[in-house]
Amino acid sequence: MLILIGNQKGGAGKSTLTLLLANYLTQQQERRVTILDMDYQQSLSAKAEKAKILENEPLYEIVPADLSHFPAMQRKLGKSRNEIVLIDLPGKMDDDGLIPIFAAADAVICPFAFDEFSVDSTLLFAMVIGRINKRAPLIFVLLR
Ligand SMILES: Nc1ncnc2c1ncn2[C@@H]1O[C@H](COP(=O)(O)OP(=O)(O)OP(=O)(O)O)[C@@H](O)[C@H]1O
Ligand SMILES: [Mg+2]
Repeated sequence: MLILIGNQKGGAGKSTLTLLLANYLTQQQERRVTILDMDYQQSLSAKAEKAKILENEPLYEIVPADLSHFPAMQRKLGKSRNEIVLIDLPGKMDDDGLIPIFAAADAVICPFAFDEFSVDSTLLFAMVIGRINKRAPLIFVLLR
């Protein structure tokens, strides 16, 4: 199963929500989770790399990836029934590499806030996703 966490707005809370969801799915639901980190700053994979000095076994793998890597990765990801792949998307819409990712999604989670800039970006993101993928439910999460 492939779940996207996205919004065109930078700083909307995509990376934070991705981690919270991954922790919930592994710890509470006992699902196997892999995160594809497509954030510009690759903030999640950088943190995961640093955390390797700790003794605890990581709960899930965080794989740094570029949008253009997705078609090649898609073939081997999420094949097992229990596995959930979460993609932390970058805050941009001007990259054709997003199209196959949007099309492949089983669900899309969109963190947003009610400020002026956030609402416009959220609506644009929702409109584009809706055009490319009519099957995946779009779930809005009000964060602030
Ligand atoms: N629910 C929340 N309440 C308060 N602060 C939050 C919440 N979610 C995220 N933040 C804070 O907002 C900032 C941006 O969050 P985050 O990095 O998750 O956003 P993002 O959408 O991934 O950003 P980017 O587009 O740069 O990748 C961070 O400092 C984070 O700690
Ligand atoms: Mg981010």
